[in-house]
Amino acid sequence: MKKVITYGTFDLLHQGHINLLRRARELGDWLIVGVTTDNFDLERGKMNTCDNVMQRIEAVKATGYADQIIIEEYKGQKIDDIQKYGVDIFAIGSDWEGRFDYLKEYCEVVYLPRTEGISSTLLREERPSVQIGIIGTGSIARRFTDEARYVNSLFLTAAYNPDSAQCHTFCEERGLTPAASLDELFSRCTAVYIASPHYTHYEYARRALEAGRHVLCETPFVLHRKEAEQLLETARRRNLVLMLAHKTAYCPAFGHLVSLLKSGEIGEIVEVNASITTLTDETSEKLDSTRYGGSMNENACFPLLPIFKLLGTQWRNINFYSKMKNGVDMYTKAVFLYDNAVASFQVGLGVKTEGNMVISGTRGYVYVPAPWWKTDYFELRFEDQNRNKKFFYPFMGEGLRYEIKEFVSCVLTEGWFFSKLTERELTAMSQVQEQYLEGKNVYRI
Ligand code: CTP
Repeated sequence: MKKVITYGTFDLLHQGHINLLRRARELGDWLIVGVTTDNFDLERGKMNTCDNVMQRIEAVKATGYADQIIIEEYKGQKIDDIQKYGVDIFAIGSDWEGRFDYLKEYCEVVYLPRTEGISSTLLREERPSVQIGIIGTGSIARRFTDEARYVNSLFLTAAYNPDSAQCHTFCEERGLTPAASLDELFSRCTAVYIASPHYTHYEYARRALEAGRHVLCETPFVLHRKEAEQLLETARRRNLVLMLAHKTAYCPAFGHLVSLLKSGEIGEIVEVNASITTLTDETSEKLDSTRYGGSMNENACFPLLPIFKLLGTQWRNINFYSKMKNGVDMYTKAVFLYDNAVASFQVGLGVKTEGNMVISGTRGYVYVPAPWWKTDYFELRFEDQNRNKKFFYPFMGEGLRYEIKEFVSCVLTEGWFFSKLTERELTAMSQVQEQYLEGKNVYRI
């Protein structure tokens, strides 16, 4: 029996795929089709698939040409499969001409003619998309526009900044339309990305939601608990997506780390410690007290994420220790007391420390090296070092593409958008900011 194998993502299965599968099947007596997993596609930078792996497998099955379907989940798997299944022919579309010649050592390699004029990429472009308007045109908005290019089904349309000169420069560079007012911006988009100074987030988010626009809001969300509750209530009432652009919450490694720990890998969690510090120019807006600058407002939402994910939001008390200058905290250490655990973090804009994260449990601990908030690697460590495990993941670009992808997909599918960051966690983040701003349990050093 002559065995043929082929591989693909087979997203939004189309006639090109069907022709390819038919031709591959005609080369032999048994066709094995390898369908890539969602994770493998993410790892190789394909962030834009619309169908998940189960839907793609079902679609390949429905063509009737596959005798066997397997999943492709790692680089180098093709050689393993060819040997494992005793494959005679490896077949792939002619767009890959020459790229798989290295497999000739193991079996015959055939490049089949590709069907012209159709591809998953083209089909994705024809699908509904989200038009995003940007509020605020600073450095994070620039990063956002760069990263948005890697996500499909979205168009960046316009930008708004009350400083119209800045707005025009930004829009010229990025090929966007400058909006003279918020209403003009809303008229050009179905969703907004808020990247303005912290203290303006609430008002912009409120106006956008009231205007029926979905919202992706930069960190920190808002600075008062009531504001968070009101925004979430408005989003719920109007059936709109309201997400926090918290890159760590959406990166693959962080999600896996939390799931591993929840399943008890290091026993009961007794302490979480994380820090994030960046030495910042003293003239920076990040240190402007009139604009709610300072280390807590700038960065606390990062360590709050693992603390809330692993220990919950029912803390007994929090103490803050801050080094102040010109009315803002250059450095703050926060210590949380829970019923059965403690947590602490250090955030700084004028003090530097190691930016790692350590999570201690009754059976072992996790070490995530700096910069842990862009997690791509972590280690589980135990008393018996032979049990230590290292985990590696992709973290592509600046990492914003993960949150952008999630946002766009939630808007388009009216999906559940609290899966990575719950409503309770969002309000708790604002509650911590509020407590700090009110000076409750804040000690100066
Ligand atoms: N294929 C083909 N003709 C097309 C499109 C794809 O023969 N018009 C073949 C590819 O060469 C490959 C297989 O179908 O052998 C699976 O390709 P895949 O990457 O899943 O499909 P594309 O439509 O090319 O996807 P994308 O646009 O995301 O690259």
